[in-house]
Parts: sequence; structure tokens; C-alpha cells
Amino acid sequence: MSNSSSDATPRKPVIEILFSAQKIAARNKLLAREIAARHDKDLLVIPVLKGSFIFAADLIRDMHQNGLSPQVDFLYLASYYDGTKSTGKVDILRDIETDVTGRDVLLIDDILESGRTLQFARELLRTRGAASVKICVFLDKEVLRAKHIELEPDYIGFKCPDLFVIGYGMDLAQRYRELPFVGHIVQE
Ligand code: IMP
Ligand code: MG
Repeated sequence: MSNSSSDATPRKPVIEILFSAQKIAARNKLLAREIAARHDKDLLVIPVLKGSFIFAADLIRDMHQNGLSPQVDFLYLASYYDGTKSTGKVDILRDIETDVTGRDVLLIDDILESGRTLQFARELLRTRGAASVKICVFLDKEVLRAKHIELEPDYIGFKCPDLFVIGYGMDLAQRYRELPFVGHIVQE
């Protein structure tokens, strides 16, 4: 057994910052203004957990600054991954409590990749009688959209390169969600 300091010190990954906290805050303000210009006060906002929780928290406060007072409920979905690739299976881990019949809904998610998660969520709400379902994603990895999925987000924070990203709510094995920026691990 070795006691050398190199063994005892946890390794710190090298993270390349893709979107800084300042850049994110500025973009959110513009997004909230755009949303407020197109929706009225009776909006039902549904963040898809877990990855969207920080984005949604910031965005709804920016929405408030723009005169919106949305109802908020949470949908917790699990999309299953084989390594870092989506398998296409989506399960509801925790459902919303709100009756969506006749409601204008805004779904909020962290990343749109294949589109399976948001397609599942949108169909779920439409089947339950929502009057409209709009989609706001923080990051759009457009090149990874599954061929058979037709899903164009109504609001996009940033277009994202095809990299596995962490921070600002997004995780790698439930870590790094606390980072105030979005980054990419360049060295573990
Ligand atoms: P989709 O169903 O393929 O569109 O996958 C979207 C979901 O996969 C997102 O809501 C994230 O939870 C997760 N995801 C996709 N790419 C990343 C990533 O780069 N970092 C962290 N989570 C990701
Ligand atoms: Mg997610």
C-alpha cells in the first residue's frame, strides 16, 4: 500500500469551457424576452428533470423579469444510454401533477440530441389534451438528431458541438452539475 501524495490526491479533470456563466446569463435574458413576447400569463412550464433544473431555475426568474407568471410542474424522465449513445427507451420516473387539458405548455430541457426524450414528452402531453406544446432547450446538438424524428425546438439557448458536455445542471455519472458554466472534459 502506498501513501504517496499522488495516490491520496483526487485527480482533477481538465475542463474546457464552452459556454461561460456570463454568456449563459446574457443568452437566458434574451430567451426569456422572446418567450414573454409570444406567450401569455397562463403558461404551464414543465422542466424535464434532472438535467434542466438549473437552466429552468434561471429561465423562469428571467421570465418573471419579463412579466410572465407561469405555473411550474416537473416531469422526471429517464432516457437510457448505452455508453454515451441513446438507446431510444424513455421511462417516466416521476409524472407531473397538473392537468394539462387545454393548457399551453412550455417544455424545458437541457440538451436536445436524438430528440427521443422530448418527442416522448411532447406526445405524452398532446395525448393528455394540451392545447399547445412548445419546446425550449438550452443546448441543441443538431447533428445527432435521429433520422426519423421531426422535432424542431421553438427556443434554443445555444447550438452545441458533438461533445459530451457537463455543468450548468448537466452531469457525468451525477457529477459536475454544480459548475456554473458548460464544459467538456478534455483530460480525466
Ligand atoms: P435525446 O433523447 O437523445 O435527445 O437526449 C437528450 C438527453 O440526453 C438530455 O436531456 C440529457 O439528459 C442527455 N444528454 C445528452 N447529451 C448529453 C451530454 O453531452 N451531457 C449530459 N447529458 C446529455
Ligand atoms: Mg435530460
